[in-house]
Amino acid sequence: MRQQTHTALSKRVFAHIRNKTTDRRPQVTHHAVSHYTCPQRFQQERRKLFRELPILITLSCQLPSPGSFITDDNTGVPLLIVRGDDGKARAFINACQHRGARLADGQGRVKRRFTCPYHAWSFTTDGQLAQLPHSADFTGFDQQNCRLQERPVAEAYGMIWVRPEGDAAIHMADMLCGLEDDLAHFNFTDYHHYETRRIDVAMNWKLVIDTFLEPYHFATLHRTTVAPIFLPNMCLFDAFGRNLREAFPRRTITELMDKPEAEWDFVYHSALVYVLYPNTVFVMQADHAEVWRIFPSKDAVDQAHMYLEFYIPEPVQSDKAKAHWDANMDLVCRTVLDEDFPVGEGAQKGFMSGTGRSHIVFGQNEPALAFFEETMAQALG
Ligand code: FES
Ligand SMILES: [Fe+2]
Repeated sequence: MRQQTHTALSKRVFAHIRNKTTDRRPQVTHHAVSHYTCPQRFQQERRKLFRELPILITLSCQLPSPGSFITDDNTGVPLLIVRGDDGKARAFINACQHRGARLADGQGRVKRRFTCPYHAWSFTTDGQLAQLPHSADFTGFDQQNCRLQERPVAEAYGMIWVRPEGDAAIHMADMLCGLEDDLAHFNFTDYHHYETRRIDVAMNWKLVIDTFLEPYHFATLHRTTVAPIFLPNMCLFDAFGRNLREAFPRRTITELMDKPEAEWDFVYHSALVYVLYPNTVFVMQADHAEVWRIFPSKDAVDQAHMYLEFYIPEPVQSDKAKAHWDANMDLVCRTVLDEDFPVGEGAQKGFMSGTGRSHIVFGQNEPALAFFEETMAQALG
């Protein structure tokens, strides 16, 4: 984030403190409950948002060297993402060209090739068939042109995006719409992966994302955990195409008022939440980054799973550092698991019963929430 952005965001907060306000929408928004319950809409979302659009798969540091790979099945498409000898990240359908066996699972590193566990066909890290045992038994089969099915990849700002279905190239500028500046200044390429945890919930996947999008609930739901840290009911909201940035200022931000503007560090005194369209929530904290990748689950409109990934600026080299990050991660998980998600699951249950109101309401002080749900609705037409 540029210094001028640190300054501009800080000034907006100071104005809100003076005026006892927050970023607001001009009016309240009414939102159809069916967006969280309708099976047809859910299937449309899975196809249009999770297959046809680029999805953030991981940060670049998870594929540190040639041969590093990671697999991903969260979109319903089995993907194998690997860094080639030329340093380029590529994505393939994780299926052998012989009879479809999976070539790899989880995450790891291959020396030069993926060897299929079924009959030992092997493929280079750029997808070319390299070896086929008993090749004389495949007369007429075009071995030269046998390649794994490739999918478009874009790698920039320390992030790796893949389009699970279709061949259209991914244009980062069209996707990020001005967020490049923030992302470039965070230097994610220098971060280190600490840990990934999976969480399963009985909620529509969008309702999970809604959880992150307003501070209105801090004072009640997080009275003893989060509320003491942040200014009450205050957020800054900015849209970048279909992505959004929402800032929750910490109470400590008032310390900046006595310092020269050139020293204002807005990130240090806030939590910055980005929604990278459609399903990634990126939380930039003072000393680390959290990536939440949220997906529909079990082919059910009211089920979701997510991965919370912690990225930290320095690799962990001592027990003390490990204890620090474990405690940090535990606190985040406890807050969402004990406080946020039970409320969300309760609301989802009510929605599914079909007995409540047809619409819920978003307040003017929940601008990011209203924007996110509007972009989702627009995507489906
Ligand atoms: S399915 Fe892969 S070698 Fe046969
Ligand atoms: Fe919360």
